[in-house]
Amino acid sequence: MGPLAHRKLSALSTSLNATRLMGFSLGTTRVIISSDPHTANEILYGQSFSDRPIKISAKVLLFERAIGFAPSGEYWRSLRRMAATHMFSPRRIACLGGVRGRVVEEMVVGVWREMEEKGVVELREILQMGSLSSVVESVFGKCLPSEREELRLMVKEGYELIGRFNWEDYFPLGFLDFYGVKRKCHKLATRVKILVAQIIRERRNEGELEGRNDFLSVLLSLPEEERLCDSDMVAVLWEMIFRGTDTVAFLLEWIMARIVLHPDIQAKAQQELDACIGVHRQVEDSDIPKLAYLQAIVKEVLRMHPPGPLLSWARLAVHDVHVDKYFIPAGTTAMVNMWAITHDASIWKEPWVFRPERFIEENVSVMGSDLRLAPFGAGRRVCPGKALGLTTVHLWLARFLHQYTWCTARSVDLSERLHLSLEMKKPLACKVFQRFDVNKLVCDPCFHRDSNPSGGSKNCK
Ligand code: HEM
Repeated sequence: MGPLAHRKLSALSTSLNATRLMGFSLGTTRVIISSDPHTANEILYGQSFSDRPIKISAKVLLFERAIGFAPSGEYWRSLRRMAATHMFSPRRIACLGGVRGRVVEEMVVGVWREMEEKGVVELREILQMGSLSSVVESVFGKCLPSEREELRLMVKEGYELIGRFNWEDYFPLGFLDFYGVKRKCHKLATRVKILVAQIIRERRNEGELEGRNDFLSVLLSLPEEERLCDSDMVAVLWEMIFRGTDTVAFLLEWIMARIVLHPDIQAKAQQELDACIGVHRQVEDSDIPKLAYLQAIVKEVLRMHPPGPLLSWARLAVHDVHVDKYFIPAGTTAMVNMWAITHDASIWKEPWVFRPERFIEENVSVMGSDLRLAPFGAGRRVCPGKALGLTTVHLWLARFLHQYTWCTARSVDLSERLHLSLEMKKPLACKVFQRFDVNKLVCDPCFHRDSNPSGGSKNCK
């Protein structure tokens, strides 16, 4: 189906009048796709679709022993409980506020450095590095720069491999490995095991786990009967790094693309920031609930550019079931085309228009209770990282907009590429202008004009 599978499937289901449910076969795999909130609700909340079909690449890359692909039995439940308590609880998310703040500070400085040196800012790499630093610190605490770089390379390669179509997933003949995906996954899994096991060993040798806040230290200090064996711990820690890095970075890149494309919306968000925070201090997590318009922008981007347009990883029917009166046999793969739902004109007024105001007029939750907009999925396998992801995105966006005015550096290309997440096909390039004298944190409109290092602020008008 390629890099625009969500669009092709959407067009197909519309042309066949099968938005509620469309079925087809891919090799030996039976697939159903819902592009409708009602049947999506039945699939995502139904007890029958509680497993995931596991791709060979995901299996070899250890994810079968992590939350995302573990079958929905006792082991999976215990992992979700553990993650909910020690990685994603509101208290843990609040504790990580310092890390989020420090990382965004580094990014803000990095953005300005790039602007001064090159006259243009390519955001993607800055966001990916920031996202990686933030998630690595919450999972491992401090780690060496060389370890972080190795993690970055491993996440990148893992994304490439999992995103790739592999014939063997659909035509199970053991000897096939057309693109060498299996071989490459085995090599990558070996690197992951070596590196993560080494980090675990180092932490054990340091001894002192008390008072440490990172997920690894918490896992190591669990009572004997709850503790994971080392190989399962490697899988769970690796999954957190893998899932937590690019989802946040890609979403923020889409948001910033919209910000530079719509200067009026940017100005409105900045007015809100100035009214709530003023110009004498930085934005903090505790300010976010007051920033209704900023939150509406994030929702509108999640609607127009959902990071998982097909909800990333599908569901598997564990027993026979009926969906919308159709009989679905056990073993069927079920997908929800969230992109089709969020672009359906019978659900959303002017779905192709970017208009955050729609979420001021109507409060729609993005957390999975309203299937018109469920970018984190819903039901038992809903994304456990949704609150952490959103908290990070809100704070970072608020800091970016508070500090700088953002403009286009070249035309913004909104073409998409669906890999594991929905990425911008062409990286975004912007220019930034200081809104304040950073040393004094006092608003000075003239400073804004004068601080354009490439001389000229035409794009900001
Ligand atoms: C913008 C940020 C994010 C988006 C849009 C997103 C989206 C998703 C989606 C669509 C699913 C599938 C849900 C379903 O089947 O119903 C999912 C699952 C998952 N996500 Fe996220 N995610 C984000 C951030 C994160 C973060 C930060 C982490 C961890 C650090 C994370 C960890 C996971 C895990 C472990 C699963 C598998 C859950 C299971 O199968 O039980 N996600 N995510």
